[in-house]
Amino acid sequence: MDKFVINGGRPLAGTVIIGGAKNASLALMPATLLATGSFQLRNTPVLRDVTTMSRLLESMGLRFSRQDTTLTVENAGVTSREAPYEHVKKMRASIYVLGPLVGRFGEARVSLPGGCAWGPRPVNLHIEGLRKLGAQIDLDGGYIIAKAKRLHGARILFDISSVGATGNILMAAVLAKGSTIIENAAMEPEITALAEFLVAMGAKIHGIGTGCLEIEGVDELHSASTTTIPDRIEAGTFMVAAALAGDRSKSVRLEHCQPRHIGSLIVKLEDAGARLKLGPDWVEVTPPEAITPVNATTAIYPGFPTDMQAQWISLMSMSTGTSIITDTIYFDRFAHVPELARLGANVTVKENIATVFGSPRLKGAKVMSTDLRASASLILAGLAAEGTTEVLRVYHLDRGYEAIEKKLQGLGADISRVAGEEF
Ligand code: UD1
Repeated sequence: MDKFVINGGRPLAGTVIIGGAKNASLALMPATLLATGSFQLRNTPVLRDVTTMSRLLESMGLRFSRQDTTLTVENAGVTSREAPYEHVKKMRASIYVLGPLVGRFGEARVSLPGGCAWGPRPVNLHIEGLRKLGAQIDLDGGYIIAKAKRLHGARILFDISSVGATGNILMAAVLAKGSTIIENAAMEPEITALAEFLVAMGAKIHGIGTGCLEIEGVDELHSASTTTIPDRIEAGTFMVAAALAGDRSKSVRLEHCQPRHIGSLIVKLEDAGARLKLGPDWVEVTPPEAITPVNATTAIYPGFPTDMQAQWISLMSMSTGTSIITDTIYFDRFAHVPELARLGANVTVKENIATVFGSPRLKGAKVMSTDLRASASLILAGLAAEGTTEVLRVYHLDRGYEAIEKKLQGLGADISRVAGEEF
């Protein structure tokens, strides 16, 4: 297992290129189950989760090849309608194959994802939505077994806005007979990107980008190509890195990003004292003299993303006062807090509310990655801390950040990957 060794306190400056969005790729890739032909997914990041999704889809008969950032998918026929536990346990987003398989073939056998490092993450909305579309769903031996002759349109209301359930029902409904309305649909940019890709494949979808999606089912879809949107969480992580560890007389410039998708973070960073300049596909961040404490409450898009909560706690742990960070999406997502404490951060957690008592000084230590965004928060804190920080088990980071150490080195950070030992 690899670890990162960071010698903190090197001020960051320069330009970093943001890659394609992991969570968009993980939705676009299974959408290629819906039609035969060749698909080009440009700007697909090189990430472990993307490889995991490729392997799963390969086990169903699809073929993948990559040239630079373009992933080509050949669908000459789907040979299996099963997502085995071996794949799903590696990545919860594997559940995205359920909707397209039931929608196109009327059958699917998909392992239940189970719990994850930060608590239970149910899939009841996916199942209830498919049942409304006419699928018969049984749970057997840890698997979701779905069967249907042909799905039919329905009116579906999600009690909770869910990215995954919206994506799954969307991919099922595009081939259903009749019209489907999804109320309280997720409005995250990754869902908009998926819906636009499905339209390019011949689907009829109205209300894209809103909380009410209307889908008129069609008999058949065809292959198509698209360019994946930039990763707003990777962008957000580098923006926080700049605010926390940037050179005060210079700036960190992010290119190939989409500032419109990270408006909530931009406001919070300005409130914290950072100076930002924005362009159509770039952002420049100059750090504050002193970080002002700013509360944040996670919410569905366009609110403050839960995937930035851990990084925000790192920033606030070096602020000049006390801030309250509330996660309303996931109640158990605070595994980074005890690790940040090893670097000297002073944070208490009660239920889903973290109280961060800022102090301008963190000190390097050995810390353990527990999940993807928690790992990012530890790297950020390590960049700002005095002395050496070792972040163990960085395989979590490889799931969602492409060559993060190289990008940080390009900004002047002293960070290196130490490979292949048992830590
Ligand atoms: C996606 C993102 C993840 C992000 C999350 C919230 C991908 C691959 N992952 O995850 O990075 O943190 O959105 O923005 O895109 N819920 C239910 N029942 C369900 C489904 C969800 O109760 O059937 C609840 C969840 O427990 C959670 C909330 O709905 O409290 C939102 O979860 P959801 O949007 O579904 O997250 P994911 O799609 O799994």
